[in-house]
Amino acid sequence: MADSTKTATLSFGDTTIELPMYSPSAGPDVIDISKLYAQGGVFTHDPGFTSTSSCESTITFIDGGKGELLHRGYPIDQLAEKSHFLEVCYLLLYGELPTAAQLEDFEFRVTRHTMVHEQMGNFFRGFRRDAHPMAVMVGVVGAMSAFYHDSTDVNDPWQREVAAIRLIAKMPTIAAWAFKYTIGQPMVYPRNDLDYASNFLRMCFAVPAEDYEVDPILARAMDRIFTLHADHEQNASTSTVRLASSSGANPFACIAAGIACLWGPAHGGANQACLEMLREIGTVDRIPEFIARAKDKNDPFRLMGFGHRVYKNFDPRAKVMKKSADEVLELLGVENNPTLQVAKELEAQALADPYFAEKKLFPNVDFYSGIILEAMGFPTSMFTPIFAVSRTVGWVSQWKEMISDPTMKIGRPRQLYTGSTARDYVDVEDR
Ligand code: SDX
Repeated sequence: MADSTKTATLSFGDTTIELPMYSPSAGPDVIDISKLYAQGGVFTHDPGFTSTSSCESTITFIDGGKGELLHRGYPIDQLAEKSHFLEVCYLLLYGELPTAAQLEDFEFRVTRHTMVHEQMGNFFRGFRRDAHPMAVMVGVVGAMSAFYHDSTDVNDPWQREVAAIRLIAKMPTIAAWAFKYTIGQPMVYPRNDLDYASNFLRMCFAVPAEDYEVDPILARAMDRIFTLHADHEQNASTSTVRLASSSGANPFACIAAGIACLWGPAHGGANQACLEMLREIGTVDRIPEFIARAKDKNDPFRLMGFGHRVYKNFDPRAKVMKKSADEVLELLGVENNPTLQVAKELEAQALADPYFAEKKLFPNVDFYSGIILEAMGFPTSMFTPIFAVSRTVGWVSQWKEMISDPTMKIGRPRQLYTGSTARDYVDVEDR
């Protein structure tokens, strides 16, 4: 734990309590309220955790005001430009950039865990063909607990390491197979001679009748999308994984819980919702109508791909994603993609609108990712599964950090209860 160098004084009624404060290496100071109830008989109240630190972490830091995202101190724009996804996975998992030998060993280990138990293929066939790939991923990843018994003991560091590698390695295979199943094509096995992103693209787009030659520019764009989505502090799905893991549940079940949370349109499902919104807008002339709806308090509609709990400036990932979108669409000869035209004009109009400026609503990571993925040939239903493939390393890294903390305890929040106080049962004839 960071050192406590100062205290906060909290006074209410005739009670005054001194609470320890900690100064982080970056970000706001925190007030430790863990003893507040014992000393003062009161709870704090923070639905949505807008002002609450849930843990101490050394993995990722976001400065929402500056629009900065650091992974173990390295800025995301530098990692997106100079690194690649498996190297970023190593950095998130182990805390430092790997030497050439360490990277080679890590990539060898991940590559040789990309196949899934042959029996698991039967799970996919149990779903309806029109099942959402996220539903399939939640089920199949949870079912990994039934196959990999030699890496479910969270108290064994070696089993934790094996589970981490298995999850990072097998997620692309599971996502690709979920995709193939829903489009009625045979599943394609991973190949050890391909890098992580190329392997995923080939498993998605190769068919027995014709192999799929991976274009290096598309592979680079896919790898960059993986890098940009890898980890993001204590977001909803990562907090879900941490809370599930705090009970000692096995890693596969906890990651399945993270996938379930990521699915929501307010979180990882926003990339699918954003593209569906852009398609609904359809043409540039309809943009004002949708901006007006987003500003209307009586209309629940929100601009998908805009706003963020932490970023009150541009999401640095969106900037990189926008550049990548231009590269991919130019390569594919669809730079005149109507959806991209609507996206660019929507961004310009929203950013010029006082409502969005006042509320500091900027494009987030999900605003441009869907456009790239659609141009690559993915249906919108595959956007969030791809987010899940990438975020698995973030979930696993945060899980490892928490599980190996000797002070870790089960997460069990309290509440502000406003329901009925004690009352006696009334027999049905007297009601
Ligand atoms: C991700 O946490 C993470 O790090 C997430 C993520 C990650 O990598 O893990 O970054 C990935 O989830 C990105 C966010 C993707 N979601 C969307 O794009 C969905 C659209 N965005 C909104 O639903 C919203 O902005 C959230 C959920 C992202 C953030 O919501 P908050 O922090 O709870 O903010 P809020 O709902 O309290 O909004 C503040 C104000 C409100 O107006 P008032 O009530 O103050 O008058 O801004 C308004 C909101 O109505 N607002 C929007 C808006 N987002 C917020 N108005 C119109 N369009 C929007 N998109």
